[in-house]
Amino acid sequence: MAHTATIGSQEVLCGEDQPVLSAFLRAGVWMPNSCNQGTCGTCKVRVVRGEVDHRDSPTDTLTHEERGQGLALACQATLRSDIEVQTLGGVAGCSTHPLRDLTATVVANEPIARDTRRLLLALPEPLGFHAGQYVELVVPGSNVRRQYSLVNTAEEDTVLELHVRSVLGGVATEGWIFAGLAEGDEVAVSGPLGDFFLPPAAEDEGGPLVLIGGGTGLAPLVGLVRTALARHPGRRVLLYHGVRGSEDLYDEERMAELARLHPGFTFVPVLSDEQPAPGSTHRSGFPTDCFIEDVQSARGWSGWLCGPPPMVEAGVKAFKRRRMAPRLIHREKFIPASD
Ligand code: FES
Repeated sequence: MAHTATIGSQEVLCGEDQPVLSAFLRAGVWMPNSCNQGTCGTCKVRVVRGEVDHRDSPTDTLTHEERGQGLALACQATLRSDIEVQTLGGVAGCSTHPLRDLTATVVANEPIARDTRRLLLALPEPLGFHAGQYVELVVPGSNVRRQYSLVNTAEEDTVLELHVRSVLGGVATEGWIFAGLAEGDEVAVSGPLGDFFLPPAAEDEGGPLVLIGGGTGLAPLVGLVRTALARHPGRRVLLYHGVRGSEDLYDEERMAELARLHPGFTFVPVLSDEQPAPGSTHRSGFPTDCFIEDVQSARGWSGWLCGPPPMVEAGVKAFKRRRMAPRLIHREKFIPASD
């Protein structure tokens, strides 16, 4: 039986097995969210009226004590009655781009680096989103959904660009995207999701940004950088791309072109397992260490991290060491999805 969920003055209808977060986002009502898998805790809400079913909410993310205090993970909980929720902080209840399901058509699926492909998906109609958000793809013939960050800026809303790295034994990668997904094939897409995006243009004063991406963690940073530079063409922007070896690098020319247009923008490819070739602009080591070497004070900067959890955690430490305010540190962790 459907019930209603309320936050502030916004009331939405929530289907019987529909997580409350999905109901709000599909109605275009913003709720903080990041992983949508029950692992990050970003969507935690306080249920001030009514009752929820926590379903598979992991106890690591939502402890028994928190359940007793009336907290719930909005991305997991379904409704047992009409409910009213409050967020634990941050903005919620305002309007946002609605979460939608669309059928896209593959227009390109091309190798761009070792075990990495660029997937271009044409949409039947424009999708509203913020640069840096992600979409979910549904593996055909299954309920398996996989999350991929959008490379696009918000204006590039009809052909989605995704960067996909192959995962050993991966249902979506080895079993599908790297196994014959071809131009003309249809793909079920849901989005937008996630909170990894810039503040509204009116609140963006053009301060400096540093962004660190590991592997295909570069993907959302490309859209964020282009959006940030379009708003303030002269701002300082440092983008580090950490990979194992030079065969893992891609889109260097795209970044070089951006640097030619914007002298305040610097792109730094960093190789962890290989010495850079003589004369190349590549650095060796870890991108977080390069940032520490390059920037003595990041007071007033905002920081953006996307990639494997150890890299993201190292980045948070590096940013704090250089005096970046914690509220200006944004992170998107690549957490392996469960089937
Ligand atoms: S735990 Fe719900 S969005 Fe991450």
